Amino acid sequence: MRRFACFVAAALFACVIMDAQNIRFDQARKIWLITSEHSSYAMGVGPSGELQHLYWGAPLWRIEDVPAAQTAHDISSFDPHEMIENEEYPGWGGPRYYEPALKITRADGDRDLVLHYVDHRIESNELTVRLRDIHDPIEAVLHYRMDPATGILERFSVVENRTKQALRIESAQSATWYMPPGDGYRLSYLSGRWAAETQLNREPIHEGMKVIESRLGHTGHNFNPWFAIDRGDADEAHGHVWFGALAWSGNWRISVEQTPYRQVRVTGGMNTFDFSYTLKPGESLRTPSFYGGFSERGFGEASRLLDDLERADIAPHGAKARLRPVLYNSWEATEFNVSEAGQKALAEKAAKLGVELFVVDDGWFGKRNNDHAGLGDWFVNRQKFPNGLKPLIDYVNSLGMDFGLWVEPEMVNPDSDLYRAHPDWVMNFPGRPRSELRNQLVLNLARDDVRDYIFNVLDKLASEYNIRYFKWDMNRTFAEPGWPEMAPDEQKEIWVQYVQNLYDILARLRGKHPKLEIESCSGGGGRIDLGILRYVDEFWTSDNTEAFDRLRIQEGFSQAYAARFMSAWVTDVPNMNGRSTSLSYRFLVALQGALGVGANLNNWSAEDTTLATRLIGTYKQIRETVQNGNLYRLRSPREHDTSANEYVAKDGSQAVLFAFRHSQQYNLPAPLIELQGLDERATYRVESIDNKLAGGPREASGAWLMQHGLQVVLKDDFDATAVIVRKSD
Ligand code: DGJ
Repeated sequence: MRRFACFVAAALFACVIMDAQNIRFDQARKIWLITSEHSSYAMGVGPSGELQHLYWGAPLWRIEDVPAAQTAHDISSFDPHEMIENEEYPGWGGPRYYEPALKITRADGDRDLVLHYVDHRIESNELTVRLRDIHDPIEAVLHYRMDPATGILERFSVVENRTKQALRIESAQSATWYMPPGDGYRLSYLSGRWAAETQLNREPIHEGMKVIESRLGHTGHNFNPWFAIDRGDADEAHGHVWFGALAWSGNWRISVEQTPYRQVRVTGGMNTFDFSYTLKPGESLRTPSFYGGFSERGFGEASRLLDDLERADIAPHGAKARLRPVLYNSWEATEFNVSEAGQKALAEKAAKLGVELFVVDDGWFGKRNNDHAGLGDWFVNRQKFPNGLKPLIDYVNSLGMDFGLWVEPEMVNPDSDLYRAHPDWVMNFPGRPRSELRNQLVLNLARDDVRDYIFNVLDKLASEYNIRYFKWDMNRTFAEPGWPEMAPDEQKEIWVQYVQNLYDILARLRGKHPKLEIESCSGGGGRIDLGILRYVDEFWTSDNTEAFDRLRIQEGFSQAYAARFMSAWVTDVPNMNGRSTSLSYRFLVALQGALGVGANLNNWSAEDTTLATRLIGTYKQIRETVQNGNLYRLRSPREHDTSANEYVAKDGSQAVLFAFRHSQQYNLPAPLIELQGLDERATYRVESIDNKLAGGPREASGAWLMQHGLQVVLKDDFDATAVIVRKSD
C-alpha cells in the first residue's frame, strides 16, 4: 500500500511516494525509520550494540538514505567517543558525563550501567526496543508510539530488574531527544508563579545545561513541562520547531544541554531531586510519557499539532468529547460566603444569561467559613445548606443547568475532624514541624488507605447527588514529604506513588461515573500537564482573571494546550492588580477559551446583563471553532500594542478573529491584521460582533483577507473586538 503526500516547499508542490507503513526496519543495517506526513525519526544499532539516535526532523521517505550507526572517534582521552555519539537512552556507565537516561545502584554498590540492544517489536504504530546492561539482566524497554495524524511520538520506558538482587534507581528518565547536530538553537519555555503562570520565554541555547523543573510535588506554577527548540529564526508561521511535553503531575525535570561537541540534547522525566526507587527482583517501573513532535511551519503549527493530539488522543472521550459548557462560579464574588438562598439567586441570574453549568466553589462543607478550618470534612455545612445540597442541585437542574462542586481532596486543615482522627495521614517526618501553607497540610496520598478514603468520599458525593462536574483544587506545595510507615530506603517513593494514586482515583471515579467531568485546578495553573489531562476536561488557567494580564497567560498556555482546556472567566473589576477594563473587553479575552462567568451577578446593571447575554450567545455560535479549531497567533501581546488571535474551524466554514488594543498613541489606527488558514479562492462574509470593522460588514475572498488583511477600529485604551468570518456557500 502506497500513497502520495504533498509538501509545500516555497512556491513548489513536491509530491513524494510514502510507504503506508509508518515504522520500518532495515534488518541488514539495523536502522528504524518512523515516518508521518509531519516528521521522521530514525535510530540504529551501533557496532558495539548501543542504540544511537540518527535523525529527527522533516519527513523522509527513503530508509536507505539514513547512514548506519557508527562508532565515533575519540578526540582525546578527555573526549571519548561515547560523549560524541548520540545514545538514544544512555545508562550512566563507562565514560559518559552528560545527563543520563537511567542511573542505578546495585545492592553491592556497583553503579555501572551500559545498555545495549537486545530485540524489538513493531506493532501497528508502536515500536518497542529492549535494551539490556552488558553485564546483568537490568533492562530498559523503550516505547515509541507514533500518532499518524500529527507525527507526535509518545515515548516512555519500562525499567525492569531481572536480576536476583534489589537495585535502586536514582534516575529513570522518559526519553532523551536530540536536535540535529549544530549550534545556534533557541529554547522556548513557560515560567511564572501564582497568578502569573505560563509566561513565554525565548532564549539562545549555549554550552551547558538549562533545567526547568518542579520539586514541589505537583506540576507547579513556576515552570510548565513543555519545551520548543528552533534554530533561532522560527516565528509563528515559519521555521523548523522541535517540541515536547511531559505527561507527569508530580516532580518533573527537563534538561536542555548543549555539549562541547555541538550537540543539543533534551532529557526529561521524573525529577531526580530527592528521587530513589527500589526495584526488587522481578519488579519494574514505567516512566511517564514524554511526547515529542516536529513542525516545519513554525511555532503555530507546533502548537496546532499538540492541540490535535490532546483533543483526539489524550483528554477523556477524545474526539467525542462534548464542547465545554458555559460555566458560572461565584468564588470571586462570594468567596466562602455560600448559602442555599444566595447560590439559588445567582443560579437564576446565571441561567438567564445562558450559563449551562453552575459550580459551587469553596465553603459548602464542614466548618469552612474561611481557609482556617474544614478541609477534609466533606459533609455539607448545615448552617449554609440546611437541607443539604439536593434542593440547590434540583433548582439548578430545573433551570436547565448542570451542577458542579468544588473539592480539594488531597488536603486537611489541622482544624478538621479528619485531621483530629488521623494525624498520621499527612505527609510528615515524625517529631519534626509540619509546615502549614494556607493553614493546610497535605494528605499522604501515596498511602493506599488514604487513596481509598479519598476515592470513597468523592464516589459518595457523585453517587448521592446529581453532580456533573468536580472542580478539583490543590492549594499548596509539598513540604516535609515523609512516609514513616515505609522502610527508610523506600520512603522517597512518595513522590511517585502519590501521583500514581492520584491518577488511580481519577480513573476509578471516571470509570464509575462516566458522565462526570473534572477540572484540574491548583491555586490557578499549578497542575496543568498532559499526565492529568488523561483524566480531566479543563484546566483552571490562573487565579489571575484580570483580562489584560490574562492575554499573556493565555498566549503561553496556548503554546502547549488547546483552547478547549483553558477555563477563562469574566470577573468583576477592579481586579487583583487594581486595573479596570470594560465588560466587553473582559468577555472578548475569555471567549478565547472555555468560557466562564465569575462575577457577582447581583451587582450587574441591566446593561451588563444584556451585553453578557448577547456575548454568551455569540460564544455559542463560535465555540466549536474556538475549542476544536486551529489557532493562529497573529500578533503577540508581548510584542505589540495590538495583539490578535484567529481560530479557524476544522471544516473551514468559519474563522474568528480576536483583536485587543492596549493603548493607541498619536491617533494612529490599529494595524491591518492579515488572516491565516483560509481558502484563498473562497468568498467569506465578514462581520464584527460589535461594529468595529472599518467600512462595516462585507464579502471578501480568502486571498484578500490573508494578503491585504482586515482593518479593525480600536481607538480606546483596552479596546477589543471580534470579527466572525463565515464561508459563503
Ligand atoms: C484556588 C482556586 O484557584 C480558586 O479558583 C478557588 O477555587 C479557591 N482556591 C478556593 O479556595
